[in-house]
This record gives sequence, C-alpha cells and structure tokens, in this order.
Amino acid sequence: MLVMNVVGARPNFMKIAPVAEALREAGVAQYLVHTGQHYDEKMSHLFFDELGIPTPDLNLEVGSGSQAAQTAEIMRKFEPVLLEVKPDVLIVVGDVNSTMACALVAAKLNVPVAHIEAGLRSFDRSMPEEINRVVTDSISDLLFVSEPSGMKNLSNEGVAGDKVHFVGNVMIDTLLHHRASAEASDIRSRLGLEATANYALVTLHRPSNVDNPAVLGGWIRALGALSHELPVVFPMHPRTRRNAIEAGLEPELQSLTISEPLGYLDFLNLMSRSSVVITDSGGIQEETTVLGVPCLTVRKNTERPATITFGTNRLIGNDPKDLLRAARQVIRGPRRVGRLPALWDGRAAQRIVEVLVDRLARARSLGLAS
Ligand code: UD1
Repeated sequence: MLVMNVVGARPNFMKIAPVAEALREAGVAQYLVHTGQHYDEKMSHLFFDELGIPTPDLNLEVGSGSQAAQTAEIMRKFEPVLLEVKPDVLIVVGDVNSTMACALVAAKLNVPVAHIEAGLRSFDRSMPEEINRVVTDSISDLLFVSEPSGMKNLSNEGVAGDKVHFVGNVMIDTLLHHRASAEASDIRSRLGLEATANYALVTLHRPSNVDNPAVLGGWIRALGALSHELPVVFPMHPRTRRNAIEAGLEPELQSLTISEPLGYLDFLNLMSRSSVVITDSGGIQEETTVLGVPCLTVRKNTERPATITFGTNRLIGNDPKDLLRAARQVIRGPRRVGRLPALWDGRAAQRIVEVLVDRLARARSLGLAS
C-alpha cells in the first residue's frame, strides 16, 4: 500500500506532519510531493525541520502566479508524477490551490482522493479557498472532518455518509505535540518584549485585507492606535509586506514590532502568551481556541464556526474602528473561557490512518485496488 501526500503552502505543513508520522507508525509506505506554492525559507523549509516532516520526495517548484496560472501549473506538473508513482490513495489537506489542483488531477486519473479538513464552508465564494474547498470535497472519495459544522455542510450538499468521517483536527495534533517545546523558544526576548509584558499578536495576508492599499492602510492605522496601549507584534507575510511598501505605508508601521514570517515554535510561543491575537488566518482561529487566547478575526465570516461557539474567537468584520473597540474591550475586560470542540485531542491523524488502512484493505480484498 502506497499513500501519496501533497503539501504546497504554509498551513499545509502543520496538517501533514502528524499524518506522515501516523502513517510511519502504521508501517504504511508514503511519497511526499511539495508543489512549491510556498518557497521562501521562512514560509516553507523551516517547518519541515521544526515539525520533523520527511523531506519531500519531489518538489514541483511551481512558485507564485495568478489563481489560474498557479493552479494550472500545479496540475500540469503533478499529472506525470501521479502516473509514474501510482499511489493507492492521494491525501490532500486544507484549502489552498495545491489542495484543489492535485485533487482534480487524481480524480481524473481515478486515483482515490482523501481530503483532510473537509466540509468547512465560509459560504463566501469571493474567497479562493472556498472554491478550493467546494471543488475538492465534491471529487473526494474519503472526507475527514474536523468540526461539527463540516458534517452538516457535507450532508446538506448530499455527500454520501459512508465517505465522511468525523475525526477531529490534525492541526491541533501538531499544536499539542509541540506545545512544550515551543515554551523553550526565546522569541519574546529576541523581539524585545519584556517577560511579563502584555502584547497583541497580528497576522494579515488575505487578499481582501491586504491587496487594496486603502483597506490595508485602515488596518495598519488601527494597529498603530492600539500600539499606544500595548506592544503590537506583527510577523508579516511576504504579500502583506510587499503591498505595504508599495502603498507607502512604511512610516505607519514604525510604532509596531514588525518581523519576518516566524517559524512554528516561535509563533506558538508568542501566541500562547499574547493578550489578544488579531488575524485573518483560518488555522490561527483554531489554535487560539485550544490555547484559550482571545482571537479577533478580521473577516466577515468564518468557515470554522466551532471557534466561535466553543472557543475564544470573535468576528470583527471589515471596519478598523470595530477592531480597535473590540481589542480594547478584550485587553481591559475579563477573559472569556472557551471549551474544546469534540475530538480536538491530539489523535486525529491516528483516526485517519485507521480509516485509510481499513478502506484500502477492504478494497484490495474485493480486487478494487492494485
Ligand atoms: C496561500 C493560500 C491561503 C493560505 C496562505 C498561507 C491559496 C489560494 N491561498 O495564500 O489559503 O492561508 O497561503 O500563507 O492557496 N510569497 C512569497 N514567498 C512565498 C510564498 C508567497 O514571497 O514563499 C508571496 C508572493 O508574492 C506571492 C504571494 O506571496 O505572489 C501570495 O502567495 P500565494 O501562494 O499565491 O498565496 P498566499 O497569499 O500565500
């Protein structure tokens, strides 16, 4: 039995790490493809070392491009690899362009596709990730779901129940596994934060927040105002940095503590001690829920509603004044205590591998797999 795993962009790495480890423990052969969607040292390679992900067997080196160009380039380069390696199943994770592109190639070559983090829906088709989720789920043979809303969404879309498995959250497997070692990071002293200081931690990279100079300027000015009350730490995604420079916003960044994109352990350390996290990331909404750290999400919707109903997340929308008001409330008010969504217990990857092994053994006994 041979499993092919695909990763492409930063949020994929923490999702594949526990799956690769669980496959190894179960003695299942695996082949790892990196599409090269993310390629900077700090957006990619660093995570392989820190999270102990096997070195990719192949890197397709697709790099950046428009939505269509990047997706097409991944498909064009991935097809011959799939034909040559002939895995029994392809595992894709999350909702990035690499996820959808490789799932499409596999579905057309009749290679079974397993999608980890299936069923999440923002119901906002202006987000490229929502298109990737809907397409990937519709052509997947096995759908592994991380939170209750995913089960409901897939059922509403008419996906056959026997394809769907509620297994928990692989990203949280990784968080729980590395939480203790993240404690040892010296990132706070490297950033000049006092050991006891309160600070806010920010990430922004969604096109809707950072591609329009006026919108990006609005967020940065709100963060500048917040920095009068506590240090605001902002590790910047390359896209955000480039757009801020092009929009002439560098002077407005002076009052913030800006850094390069951080590695997993440094970021986890910062997140776990922060007074408030301000983000437009999907995964960070989940990680703050587990850490019990207040999270303000600068989006109008979330595909991860469990972080609001159970966790510490709150949607801010698109008005910087609302962000400032909410951040002040969080800093000054009592902390909301959340609870953990079901099965966010560090064992999601093992559950996935159990299902995969069982399915493939059954397919083989019926003569359906090679
Ligand atoms: C992608 C994912 C998004 C995920 C994010 C995490 C899609 C549609 N989007 O968005 O869901 O939350 O990754 O970061 O797949 N760049 C670099 N170096 C890199 C990677 C990117 O400089 O290693 C710059 C390039 O200018 C590039 C831009 O960032 O054009 C955007 O990269 P891209 O992969 O297109 O999308 P992300 O915004 O990173």
